[in-house]
Amino acid sequence: MSDETLSNLLKEDRRFEPPAELAADANLTEEAYARAEADREGFWAEQADRLSWDTRWERVLDWDNPPFAKWFVGGKLNAAYNCVDRHVEAGNGDKVAFHFVGEPVDDKQTITYAELKDLVSQAANTLTDLGVQTGDRVAIYMPMIPEAVVAMLACARIGAPHTVVFGGFSSDALASRLEDCQAKVVVTSDGGYRRGAPSPLKPAVDEAVVKAADLGHTVEKVLVVRRTGQDLGADGWDSDIDVWWHESVEQASTEHACEFFDAEHPLYVMYTSGTTGKPKGILHTTGGYLTGAAYTHWAVFDLKPETDVYWCTADIGWVTGHSYIVYGPLANGTTQVLYEGTPDSPERGRWWDIIEEYGVTLFYTAPTAIRSFMKQGREIPDARDLSSLRLLGSVGEPINPEAYVWYRHVIGGDRTPVVDTWWQTETGSIMISPLPGVTHGKPGSAMTPIPGVAADVVTEEGESVGPGNGGYLVLTEPWPAMLRTIWGDDERFKDTYWSKYRDQGWYFAGDGAKLDTDGDLWVLGRVDDVMNVSGHRLSTTEIESALVSHPKVAEAAVVGAKDEDTGQAVCAFVILRDEAGDGGDDIVEELRAHVRTQIGPIAKPRQIMVVPELPKTRSGKIMRRLLRDVAENREVGDVTTLADSSVMDLISKGVSSGAGGE
Ligand code: WTA
Repeated sequence: MSDETLSNLLKEDRRFEPPAELAADANLTEEAYARAEADREGFWAEQADRLSWDTRWERVLDWDNPPFAKWFVGGKLNAAYNCVDRHVEAGNGDKVAFHFVGEPVDDKQTITYAELKDLVSQAANTLTDLGVQTGDRVAIYMPMIPEAVVAMLACARIGAPHTVVFGGFSSDALASRLEDCQAKVVVTSDGGYRRGAPSPLKPAVDEAVVKAADLGHTVEKVLVVRRTGQDLGADGWDSDIDVWWHESVEQASTEHACEFFDAEHPLYVMYTSGTTGKPKGILHTTGGYLTGAAYTHWAVFDLKPETDVYWCTADIGWVTGHSYIVYGPLANGTTQVLYEGTPDSPERGRWWDIIEEYGVTLFYTAPTAIRSFMKQGREIPDARDLSSLRLLGSVGEPINPEAYVWYRHVIGGDRTPVVDTWWQTETGSIMISPLPGVTHGKPGSAMTPIPGVAADVVTEEGESVGPGNGGYLVLTEPWPAMLRTIWGDDERFKDTYWSKYRDQGWYFAGDGAKLDTDGDLWVLGRVDDVMNVSGHRLSTTEIESALVSHPKVAEAAVVGAKDEDTGQAVCAFVILRDEAGDGGDDIVEELRAHVRTQIGPIAKPRQIMVVPELPKTRSGKIMRRLLRDVAENREVGDVTTLADSSVMDLISKGVSSGAGGE
């Protein structure tokens, strides 16, 4: 982010006080900060007591061997029992867990906690029948349907870590994840509904199973939900490995006695982009993670489980769906909306219709969605009754002050606080956010670490920058929902997050941030080669590798350029191989389609520029800063460290004459 945007941001002086009514009855009050500060472990132990433990822990935190933490040492619990059974046992079996809204209008289903318990037990029995044992990995590749949540909880129930792969990823991306975590079983569906039409999923799983086999890994079974009923084709079903959900799960017993697992038993692996091409399998374990998710969902959203109707629009294929659709809200016994489709199908007001219909009180979404609604105009939400809303949340990328104010004003009717929540796949739960009954809102700022969390903004050398200055965001104390490692790669785990501030023992988040003169925190975005497109993390290297795997491409460099709609957009510069000539008329489309099949539609470059050279330093490093200048149509900056300074002229000329652009 440029200095100019930064100083504009910090001129922001609008302030919104917490609503008096909310403040008077807030779940967490001011005193929690000091209490947590005075006895951090005691505070987290208190939060762990939100859960039902089969065996109580002996020690809150074992940090004897950093960065490998153990939380609630010796404790035993079952995550699914905590999310489902205990609510039924407490007499809340009739309470609605999910109001499911399918994309086809009128496709609605209500699932109570008692029904959820039966479904999860059935699915647990089926997974066991399919040979899944405690510790085995199960991949889930599904649309946003209740069975996806059921599958996750069934895995948790039998202690088989799940890895949910976003349904928008390609079969290649799925295959590499199946191989990396050695998934024994895949749960999927024939398809899902997307913009009014059935969109297939099962064929991608079939391809991925073959590709995983090429990589040396055998998937044993594929469990398939019939969602759309679409034709799978003659080759679309292999009765040796494919099993229908309705012929197995729906026929299984609803009785399932759950086992209790160690607090540090792996709960799931979530793949996310890093600075190298290979996605990182972020490992979360059971007790600490569930504690973090439940506590933050209760505190940051000021959850009143008896009366609130909560809706998080994230996909369960991302960490937000894990922590704030599945584990946090269900551990808290929340009633929520689960929506399958896109915001504008069949028409632009769909989300607001859903809020009105179910009386949603707490709403959690991403800035990219808010910006797209701003663009469509306020008439659409204004035509609906959104008066049930009492709190709004934002996550995934910095929220621009204008979007924040629009969100609060148009969607929240100026009544609702907006909680801008900063966290990551790695942190597992929200780390930095206002508390809605305590902190005033400042558009664009995530404000301060929540009680229990310790963060700072520091220099390269590890000095606190202090109010008014910018630097690197670090977390200075361990927290229960922290990642435990990168699946199968402890070294990469240490290297990526803990080596920059090894002496201090701090976690390096990879984000830049600034403290304003009040000491409130502004997250500015990534400082490494990770982009944030519509709130989704993508690695520049991963996309470069995809481009280079195309036979016509010799070299590629990818940068994230500022984009009004998506926050950042993928811009690629490629050098073609000599034998490819000028690549042909359709080269740009061909390469975009190639990235789409290699990774998925979210990674498809907005722009591809065919260039004769790439700007490199004398040591051969690509100077992305200069490419970003080109991609953002800026005057190209300092080129003195370039090996050949005429390269930028060549590139800029090519771009301005439109050669190879879109
Ligand atoms: C960015 C999503 C500013 C940040 C939960 C982080 C944010 C990355 C915010 C993690 C926010 C997330 N303000 N930036 N409120 N929330 N980010 O792993 O760059 O998909 O490092 O987790 O998103 O993305 P991830």
